[in-house]
Amino acid sequence: MQKISLSKCFTGPEVEEAALRAIRSGNYILGKECQAFESELAAHTGSKQCVLGSSWTMIVYMMHLAQGIKPGDEVIVPSHTAFPTMEPLIHCGAKPVFVDIDETYCMDPDAVAAAVTPRTVGIIPVHIYGHPVDLDRIFAIAAKNNLWVLEDCAQAHGASYNGKRVGSMGLAGAYSFFPSKNLTVLGDGGCLITNDAALAEKVRMLRNHGRKDKYLHEITGFNVRFNEIQGAIGRVMLKHLDGFNDNRRAIAARYNERLKGLVQTPIEKPWAKAVYHMYVIRSPRRDALQKFLKENGIDTGIHYPVPNHQQPAVTSKFGNATLPKTEAAVKEILSLPIHGEMSLATADAVCDAIAAFHKQ
Ligand SMILES: Cc1ncc(COP(=O)(O)O)c(C=O)c1O
Repeated sequence: MQKISLSKCFTGPEVEEAALRAIRSGNYILGKECQAFESELAAHTGSKQCVLGSSWTMIVYMMHLAQGIKPGDEVIVPSHTAFPTMEPLIHCGAKPVFVDIDETYCMDPDAVAAAVTPRTVGIIPVHIYGHPVDLDRIFAIAAKNNLWVLEDCAQAHGASYNGKRVGSMGLAGAYSFFPSKNLTVLGDGGCLITNDAALAEKVRMLRNHGRKDKYLHEITGFNVRFNEIQGAIGRVMLKHLDGFNDNRRAIAARYNERLKGLVQTPIEKPWAKAVYHMYVIRSPRRDALQKFLKENGIDTGIHYPVPNHQQPAVTSKFGNATLPKTEAAVKEILSLPIHGEMSLATADAVCDAIAAFHKQ
């Protein structure tokens, strides 16, 4: 039985040559490869500025520090996301205000509007699974209430909203390069994109011990730097991103066609060009289906089984909340195998197994 993995990183001679080029350059941190990767990422996302950092979590923490987020501030976030989405703001003393999801699993704009209070300072829409949030509605709420918008694009490299890349339309967008992501650097890493030059400059200083010049520290900062080997690797990955995303969309189309009527398949809204970081189905028999697929050599995942408003780290600090749609979804969602190099034949093998499960 051939095993089918949930995701896969692109590797091979092109990636190895890039790493070797960086190793042989004799320069290892924030050098030419990082500068080129930042420019190429800014161009790809349609933003003026890009700041690389050691992870999404740390670069967003630097951004929140640069913004001056403080105790008592409230930030509206979905609960249905990776735990890190709201870690940086909690470290700044702010309170995450969780909202429920809509049928795309993204935050529901109506719930966002209802969650605004005089203490709200910002909104973090998460383009979960690579499907863009309805940003026009989020930006309208933000403009009305004078709030900033930071897009969590960790799962949405290359996705667009009405023809514009996600992350480029609000105050900033943040990407993760964790190995499972659509764009990876074969290790940890992340970046912030923004059109706000002053914000980018402050984050650049904070990531490198608050320095402007080598021996001149204007503020106290951190070490959240990026390295040349991963910069060189990321540049190769970026060249392949659009092609790999097209392949993910072709796999998703095949899944949609073959799984219709068997399980609930994901929807793509008219404004969205989704990049299917995850292809998530929904079934009331989720646990039995997952077990059956595992027995047949097919890896699946649950993203995420425990919503953030129910995580002990959150309830112990902020108390309990109820989000019926999120709580119902986490019991039924199942992520199927998908990646940039996956073949349609592999998708067919997954569909055959799901069909066999339903014939039992
Ligand atoms: C939606 C989302 N936000 C934030 C993160 C955090 O990214 P990182 O691991 O680079 O800190 C992730 C990755 O796990 C994610 O999926």
